[in-house]
Amino acid sequence: MTHSISPWTASGMKDNNARFESRVRSFLEHIVEDKPRHALFLNMLAMLEHLGSRKIMLSQMDRVMTQDTLQHLAEEARHAYFFKRNAERVAGKALDGWSDENTMSRLPAAMYFGRLDAGITRVVGEEAAYGWVSLIIELRACWLYAIYQEVLEQSSDHMSLKSLLAEEDHHLAEMFDMCGEDYDTLKSLSAHETELFEKLWGRLEEELVANREAA
Ligand SMILES: [Fe+2]
Ligand SMILES: [Fe+2]
Repeated sequence: MTHSISPWTASGMKDNNARFESRVRSFLEHIVEDKPRHALFLNMLAMLEHLGSRKIMLSQMDRVMTQDTLQHLAEEARHAYFFKRNAERVAGKALDGWSDENTMSRLPAAMYFGRLDAGITRVVGEEAAYGWVSLIIELRACWLYAIYQEVLEQSSDHMSLKSLLAEEDHHLAEMFDMCGEDYDTLKSLSAHETELFEKLWGRLEEELVANREAA
C-alpha cells in the first residue's frame, strides 16, 4: 500500500522529539571526542542492533521466512557488527560481548529495548509485533543516526553512517507500508517510545557526567 503522507508526519515523531535535539547533539559532540567513552557508547549501539536482529529472528520462528525479512535481519546483524568493529577500533582493543564494563548504560539500554518490545506487543499482538516494533525503532534509528552523522562530520572521527542510514531509511519505508494507515496507533506507540528513549538518554547523560567527575 502507498501512504499519502510520510512516516514522520503520520507518527508526529520529529515534532515530539524537537525538544531533545540539542540535548542529544551536545551529548554526541562530547562523546565523539572522548575515546574511551565513545567506545562504550558504540558498543551499546552494537548491542541494540544485535537485539533488533535477534528480535526479528525470534518473531519469525513459526512463520514462512521471506527474502525481505531475511534481508532486514541480515542488515541489522551487520549494523551490530559495524558498531562493534568501530567500538573496538576506537578502544584499540577487543570488546567481547556486552558487559557493564564495556557497554555504556548496558542495563538501561537493554531495558529500553525490552520494555518497548513488550509494550508494543501488548497493544498490537504477537502477530503484528514484527512490523510495529520495527517501525517504531526505525524512526528512532533514522532520527538519532542522522544527528550522529552530522556530529561525526564535524569531529576528528571519520566514521561514516551514510550507508547504514540509507538501509534504515529503506527499512522505515518498508515497515511503514507493512503497518498500514492506523496513524492513531502509530502516534501513540511513537509517543511511548519517546518516553522510554528520554529515560535511556537521561541515564547516558548521567553516566557521562559521573565519569567526567571521577576523571
Ligand atoms: Fe539497524
Ligand atoms: Fe533497521
